[in-house]
Amino acid sequence: MVWRKKKNISENIEPTQNGKNSLIVLKDLDKVYHTDAGDFPALLNVDLEIGSGEFVSVIGKSGSGKTTLINMLTGIDQPSSGEIFVGGVAIHNLNEGEMAAWRGRNMGVVFQFFQLLPTLSVFQNVMIPMDFCNMFTPAERRERAMHLLELVDIAEHAHKLPSRLSGGQQQRAAIARALANDPPIICTDEPTGNLDSKTAGQIFDLFQQLVKDGKTILMVTHDDDLAKQASRTVIIADGEIVNEYFANAFPTLSHELMLKATKKLLPMSYAAGEPIILQGSEADRFYIVSKGEVEVYLNRPDAQEVLVDTLGPGQYFGEIALLNGGARSAMVRASINSPIEVLTFDKKDFTELLGDSSEMMEEIKRSVNIRGQKLAKAAKK
Ligand SMILES: Nc1ncnc2c1ncn2[C@@H]1O[C@H](COP(=O)(O)OP(=O)(O)O)[C@@H](O)[C@H]1O
Ligand SMILES: [Mg+2]
Repeated sequence: MVWRKKKNISENIEPTQNGKNSLIVLKDLDKVYHTDAGDFPALLNVDLEIGSGEFVSVIGKSGSGKTTLINMLTGIDQPSSGEIFVGGVAIHNLNEGEMAAWRGRNMGVVFQFFQLLPTLSVFQNVMIPMDFCNMFTPAERRERAMHLLELVDIAEHAHKLPSRLSGGQQQRAAIARALANDPPIICTDEPTGNLDSKTAGQIFDLFQQLVKDGKTILMVTHDDDLAKQASRTVIIADGEIVNEYFANAFPTLSHELMLKATKKLLPMSYAAGEPIILQGSEADRFYIVSKGEVEVYLNRPDAQEVLVDTLGPGQYFGEIALLNGGARSAMVRASINSPIEVLTFDKKDFTELLGDSSEMMEEIKRSVNIRGQKLAKAAKK
């Protein structure tokens, strides 16, 4: 029999220009499940960009759409509409065979229940992706499988069946398998959901090490403590993605309120150095910085302009006069270094949100207090 090398379809997939510079780009993604009870939208208008080297945790209540999102990215399932670019490749256009070949090389997938093949040894499980994708020579594959098992610290269990290993060890084996073809991206759905908290911490540390080594990781988790340790957190509520700048500004709000607020945010942009708020003017808007930096100045009666604060992404301004009434107590302008972007609420939406959320009211009051003191100090200098 002639052993013929399988053609690897992913080699022929041309990157498009639509993927921009981010490693992963989701554009206006919808996923509707058609059930006997009717159509169920599990993902709605999802826009998301993930850069190379990011460690992104995805959180959200049970049923919010986390697994659906991961399944779109890994090509386990297809979106109803919208686009998914990974490394510039439009993966929503790949057929099943192309998808399997592409995934095998580009995406390591780690599941909650490990999904190791029970009749194969741990070593053989790690060999499968390399065999499937015809990566490396057979000798290199064996060497690589052992090397990966050493990396995840279970080399001494290489020739055991998965069932002989503890849960944590099985997840390590699953991670070694995910790394077999050296994919740039790891997608993982509740990888610690079946582990005790100490073991969960160790698995998380392993992911962090992989990010340091250059991998990009998307991790769905319901463990808020672990989620916070990732470099970025994406929140899904009812199939929609919460604005990350808003979530960073008001992390204690419920996901439902975060989503409600997200839908009311109006983006605005300003040129470098352009004024955004004039001291003494009427207050009609609340702002959260989403790109660049803004500077807050106090114009004193003696005509001195004192810099009171510099605010960056996820920080807000414009709340003092909206809460207390009266005119703007300071001037805010875009930093002279670069143009800036902000997300804004009008006065009515801001007031309504404060009425809905005691957490947001508390946060705003706390901020008004601290900033009031800063302004008073600057006035006296
Ligand atoms: N194959 C399916 N058919 C119909 N509905 C589904 C299917 N898969 C998931 N859903 C529904 O879509 C919603 C999101 O599910 P899922 O993505 O699994 O949420 P999560 O992972 O956040 O718990 C849930 O309401 C779920 O019941
Ligand atoms: Mg899930």
